[in-house]
Amino acid sequence: MTSAPRLDLAALRRFPDVEAANLFASDSADRLLLDTADALEGIQRPGTVALLGDHYGALTLGALDQLGAVEPRVYQDLRTSQLALAANAESFGYANAYRHLPLGPELLSGVSTVLLQLPRSLAELDQIAAAVARYAASDVVVLAGGRIKHMSRGMNSVLEKYFGLVSVGLARQKARVLSAYLPRADAPSAEYPQREFHADLDLWVHAHGAVFAGTSVDIGTRFLLDTVLAEGITAGTAVDLGCGSGIVAAVLAKSRTGLHVTATDRSEAAVASAMETAKANGVGTQVTTVHDDAASTLPAGSTELVVLNPPFHLDAAVHAGAALKLFDAAARLLAPGGELWTVYNRHLDYAAQLERRVGPTRVVARNPKFSVAVSVRRS
Ligand SMILES: C[S@@+](CC[C@H](N)C(=O)[O-])C[C@H]1O[C@@H](n2cnc3c(N)ncnc32)[C@H](O)[C@@H]1O
Repeated sequence: MTSAPRLDLAALRRFPDVEAANLFASDSADRLLLDTADALEGIQRPGTVALLGDHYGALTLGALDQLGAVEPRVYQDLRTSQLALAANAESFGYANAYRHLPLGPELLSGVSTVLLQLPRSLAELDQIAAAVARYAASDVVVLAGGRIKHMSRGMNSVLEKYFGLVSVGLARQKARVLSAYLPRADAPSAEYPQREFHADLDLWVHAHGAVFAGTSVDIGTRFLLDTVLAEGITAGTAVDLGCGSGIVAAVLAKSRTGLHVTATDRSEAAVASAMETAKANGVGTQVTTVHDDAASTLPAGSTELVVLNPPFHLDAAVHAGAALKLFDAAARLLAPGGELWTVYNRHLDYAAQLERRVGPTRVVARNPKFSVAVSVRRS
């Protein structure tokens, strides 16, 4: 047992991620993970604790504050999570107290305690668990926590693939922790990025575990692409905003030799996948990738075309904030007269928001599920 927490996790902010009254920067899984780790030995040795998938800093700052972790190592896929942790660490006196590293040996070697916020996708968990089993200390204890409503038995199975012993903890405040021990020396080696050929699009798709839709082609994306390609592209520059595996960037680049596409996403796994997808389709030189929150580092007015399949759900709370944030980003990126092409579920009626935030908007295609709108950036 270490010291009682001094840091009030409820005081953390999500900024620059979307903030709203029903969205929180910490949850009961963060608190249960920290309290479960409190009983473990050896946490205060430098560099022995790794925090994985920390949403906004609760795990990292909680490990520093409550557990007395020293120089913990941190892996976060989302740029918004990285920035929120940095801002919260600055506010609460922990700037530079942790090391941010990519998923791999530098993050995990010598680590004997892992606290993991369980990701939504089993593929992302698979990629993380494989890395921990491969690189962490042989006596590593993995505490993987989540909100019960987002947990599935499949998560236990993924952990059992890589660890000899997996136990399920008691529920508390609608959260639960799975504990995994004894990394398997004979664990199958996970192959990431995964790849799949889509003959109908003549397209290879490469995807790391954390990427939206994996190696498949989302049906909204397919409808968007069909609509854009039927219209034909005349632009010389385009942004694939929220690029995921980079399907849009690769298809656009293949359709027009002179086109340069910037593929950008807040997920590091996504931008890595987008570059792999571009290379696999022979358009690596036409595509640049940028890991960024809402393309904030790209110059204003710098592109003629933005293509977007916006996120629909945000942290399970159905909240339009994430889509609206990307509409505003598109408005900023577009040169006057430039076009934003967006696909969305028919019932969402985003046209009024697009009109207000970007410029004159017309719905150019509809099918039973989706609408595709074109918004022209007003001068
Ligand atoms: C519905 S997916 C579409 C992915 C890809 N364009 C496709 O069509 O398969 C939305 C994407 O937006 C990204 N995203 C969400 N919020 C973002 C933000 N603030 N900045 C950058 N990307 C964001 C997500 O990570 C996700 O990859």
